[in-house]
Amino acid sequence: MDQEIQRFTLGNLTLPVKTLFTGYLMAIGLGLLMAGVQIMLTHGMADGKPGLSVDDIVYSYHGNHEGAASSKLDSKLYGSMKDNAPPEVRLQLLKWADAGAPASEWEGKIKPQVDQYCAPCHANMPGLANISDKAVMDQMTKHDEGASIATLTRVSHIHLFGISFIFFFVGWIFTYATGFTPLTKAILIFTPFGFLIVDVASWWLTKLNSNFAWLVIIGGFGYSMASTIMIFSSLYQMWIEPLYTFKARLLKK
Ligand code: HEC
Repeated sequence: MDQEIQRFTLGNLTLPVKTLFTGYLMAIGLGLLMAGVQIMLTHGMADGKPGLSVDDIVYSYHGNHEGAASSKLDSKLYGSMKDNAPPEVRLQLLKWADAGAPASEWEGKIKPQVDQYCAPCHANMPGLANISDKAVMDQMTKHDEGASIATLTRVSHIHLFGISFIFFFVGWIFTYATGFTPLTKAILIFTPFGFLIVDVASWWLTKLNSNFAWLVIIGGFGYSMASTIMIFSSLYQMWIEPLYTFKARLLKK
């Protein structure tokens, strides 16, 4: 309905502007694709099974396994000790540490694994922490909550600033699109920002309750969908649609 007062449309932009928008959209589209592949590769296998699952999100994406943010056991199992146990055992140890290293599971479930996979080095090499000893293991599973909040704050603001820039320009270019009602356009433009906030909020909420990991998946899916629609329809309206109107005009003559 507001189409008449839209001075510029993607179809009638000058060639240099179209080129600028196209280059940007292509690079951003590729970037989003790579981000998806990267998440699959680095986090998809965290639970030892291919494909991204809620366990993967909980135990790799938002568990904060770096530096002082996590327990010693956590960061070592994501670092130098990663290959010392099969993925299932590794996940079992991580879950146990995450649950607060309950003593009730130590004798029956955890210690046998530690004895089998870790003790060959840790109980025998002088100077290494003997983690088959529960008291020593307790030192390794202690969390530093304050630090992990500091890390989340840092990652959150970088993510919010950085990703907003991507969506801002994708959305801006899309404001020149035609054939969508202003409301549909507005919803598509707002969706990535909305889901970005949901995504970041879910990192914090996942700390409280791992069920919120679903929000991470929904958030990621939501903004991928909205930006895919905007990127493809913008490219289509800049390059393909003008060909049709051009052809139609020729035929009329
Ligand atoms: C091949 C020998 C070897 C095996 C097997 C091994 N580790 Fe280690 N571990 C080391 C060495 C060497 C270090 C010290 C260097 C480092 O921190 O990377 C270490 C350090 C650690 C630390 C840090 C200790 C500290 O005091 O800072 C933790 C925690 C740990 N390992 C956990 C494990 C767990 C859990 C397993 C079993 C899944 C395991 N390790 C299996 C050799 C081993």
